[in-house]
Amino acid sequence: MSKIFIDACKGKQTPYTPVWMMRQAGRYLPEYKEVRQKAGSFLNLCHDPQKAKEVTIQPLDIVGVDAAILFSDILVLPNEMGMKLRFIEGEGPIFDDPIKDEADLQTLLGDDKAADKLSYVYETIKLLKIELDKRDDDIALIGFAGAPWTVSTYMIEGQGTKTYNLCKKMMYSNPKLLHKILQKTTDATKLYLSNQIKAGADAVQLFDSWASAIEPSKYDEFSWSYMIQIADYIRENHPDTPIILFPKAVPQFIPKVYGNFDVFGVDWATNMTYAKKHLSDKYVLQGNMEPCRLYNQKQTTKCVEKIQKVMQGHRHIFNLGHGILPDIPIANAIHFVKECQRVSRGDLKDNKKYLKGN
Ligand code: CP3
Repeated sequence: MSKIFIDACKGKQTPYTPVWMMRQAGRYLPEYKEVRQKAGSFLNLCHDPQKAKEVTIQPLDIVGVDAAILFSDILVLPNEMGMKLRFIEGEGPIFDDPIKDEADLQTLLGDDKAADKLSYVYETIKLLKIELDKRDDDIALIGFAGAPWTVSTYMIEGQGTKTYNLCKKMMYSNPKLLHKILQKTTDATKLYLSNQIKAGADAVQLFDSWASAIEPSKYDEFSWSYMIQIADYIRENHPDTPIILFPKAVPQFIPKVYGNFDVFGVDWATNMTYAKKHLSDKYVLQGNMEPCRLYNQKQTTKCVEKIQKVMQGHRHIFNLGHGILPDIPIANAIHFVKECQRVSRGDLKDNKKYLKGN
């Protein structure tokens, strides 16, 4: 039996358009904060498969989304490559010893060694598979990783940045070193995602949240081509697993998008009609409500209706155009999901018939 979310990723006709939200497991849910507090810290939570499973499931039960995304973080990979990672409350991630030169890069563990150390992630996926199978409610499990560029910005800057000075100094003064960092991260990410699929992930997404920091003429060279290397590897080794790529805010690149993957995540700053015109023949589109519309239910409804008018339930997955923010009222997140279901399900009240037919 194939899941509706997976069929939708593959561009098959489905009885309704599935919906999920990027960063759907997180601080807007008091239930999440409770489990994180019990874990002691965010990283402890990532390292504890039982608790990570619990918070992955929360948005399914509380908000009613159609897919689960593994609870983890894009930075556990460089952490297991050997970079010491801390999360400071209210400030975000910190690597104490960012990569400055070739010698720093040489100290990091490569491909299979780093991927092997992420066993707690695979354990979380295995626990989730058992739980989701028990429920029999057609929920797909999405695994993920960061795009090599986005992950490398943290490895080089040591933290979040507004200006990307250090990465860009390297991009223009020592591009060879930047390419080596990107390649090492790419090789580890291939195996990491492959292991997630072997453990039970039904689909995988690459987050390129900081794509727009790269000038348009350099985007392919420093980011997209590495994402495509990973997509090619997954395609070859797991041909049935859908691949979702989310490069945030690169509208100029959209007409030039290429590669063998399934779903293109459209960010909120990109017009859906424009994305559809250029991409919809080749890729399923995911997105793209501006996450801040979630502050207001009427604005949410308007936007969902507009997206539905453009996509018409064809080759589309509903989502936000970036992650949900911690101060969004839960009722408004539920409203978003219900509105996506209302506009796309029509009078198809349950999906039992569809599931039987597949
Ligand atoms: O989507 C989900 O529900 C699954 C979990 C998930 C997290 N991070 C949990 C998290 C996912 C998919 C991510 C991806 C991630 N992590 C990205 C790409 C997606 C995006 O939103 O752009 C990035 C850039 C990171 C790196 C990261 N992790 C930052 C910059 C921060 C601090 C900023 C923030 O949002 O607080 C984190 C911490 C983090 N990752 C939290 C959560 C729930 C908050 C930590 C906490 O509980 O205090």
